[in-house]
Amino acid sequence: MKDSKNILRIENLYKSYGDKLILDNVDLAVNPGEFCTLVGPSGCGKSTLLRLILGQEAANSGSLKINNKQVSFPDQDRGIVFQRYSLYPQLTVLQNVLLGKNLTKQKWYLPWFKNDSDTEEAMRYLDILRLSDAAHKHPHELSGGMQQRVAIAQALIMKPPILLMDEPFGALDPDTREELQIFLLELWDAKKLTIFFVTHDLEEACYLGSRMLVLSQYYQDDRGNVERGAKIVADYQLPSVALSTEIKTSRAFQDLISTIRSEGFDPEVQQHVKHFNLEHPDSFQTLLNEEYARSIP
Ligand SMILES: Nc1ncnc2c1ncn2[C@@H]1O[C@H](COP(=O)(O)OP(=O)(O)O)[C@@H](O)[C@H]1O
Ligand SMILES: [Mg+2]
Repeated sequence: MKDSKNILRIENLYKSYGDKLILDNVDLAVNPGEFCTLVGPSGCGKSTLLRLILGQEAANSGSLKINNKQVSFPDQDRGIVFQRYSLYPQLTVLQNVLLGKNLTKQKWYLPWFKNDSDTEEAMRYLDILRLSDAAHKHPHELSGGMQQRVAIAQALIMKPPILLMDEPFGALDPDTREELQIFLLELWDAKKLTIFFVTHDLEEACYLGSRMLVLSQYYQDDRGNVERGAKIVADYQLPSVALSTEIKTSRAFQDLISTIRSEGFDPEVQQHVKHFNLEHPDSFQTLLNEEYARSIP
C-alpha cells in the first residue's frame, strides 16, 4: 500500500485481556500537527490504546503504524507523560531530563553521565519549559506543576513524532492544571507538536484539542448478543488555535460537553455504529458486515 501522510494510522485494531474484549475494531488516522484529545468512560480502554501506540503491549490483531512503520516494541520514537511517577527522586531535574538520552546510549548505570552537547540541549528544553532555575533541584523540591513540566521536557528531548500523554494533569489542583493547559497549548503551537492526550475530563479535552475523539463501549450494532469492546464513537474537529480559557464558560462549549457526555458516557444512550458522529475529515471506520447487517439490502 502507498505510504500515507498520517503520523499515526490504526486499522482494525482488536485488544482483549483474557476473555474480555477491550478494543473492538478501532480505526484512527492522525496527521502531523494535530492536538488529539481522547475521552471515554473510566475503564473503556484509553490507557490500553496508549500502551499499544507506545509498543508496550501487543494488539490481538490489526495494524498500528507510526510514520508508515509498524509498531512492534517501544523505542525513542514515542515519548509519554503519565499522571505522575516518571521522575526519579534521587536524580536532579537536569539528570532526569538527560535520562532518556543516556539510556539510549547504554549509559543507564550512570544516568548523570556528562556529555556537553546533551547537557546543553537539556538546558534548552528546561529553558523552554521555564525550568532553568530548577535544573539542579530534586523533584521533591518542586511543585506538582513543575514536576509535570520536567516530565514533558523528559519526553520532548527524545523528539518523539507524537507526544503521548495519559492524564498528565490529573493529579494537579485546578489552578495549576489550567496554567499547564495554557502552557501546553502554547508549546504545541510554538513547536508544531503532534500530541495524543488522554483525559477523562471532558472540559479539558474540549479546551485543549484541535480534534476530540470519544472512545466508548456504549453503542449498538447488528452483531446480536455478543460482548462488545470500545470503539471511537465520535470524532470532532475543533478550533485549532489556542483559545482563552473564557471559552470554557461559553454556551457552545458547554453544549458540546453535554452532547459528548451523552454520546460516550451514558450507558442508556446507544447509537448505532452507522450513526456515529465522525465529522473529522480524517475519520474512517472499517466495519465488518455483521456490524451493520441492517443496512445491507
Ligand atoms: N494488564 C491488564 N490485564 C487485564 N486487564 C486489564 C489490564 N490492563 C487493563 N485491563 C482492563 O482493561 C480495561 C481498560 O483499562 P484501561 O485501558 O486502563 O481503561 P481507561 O484508561 O480507559 O480507564 C479495564 O477493564 C481494565 O480493568
Ligand atoms: Mg487510564
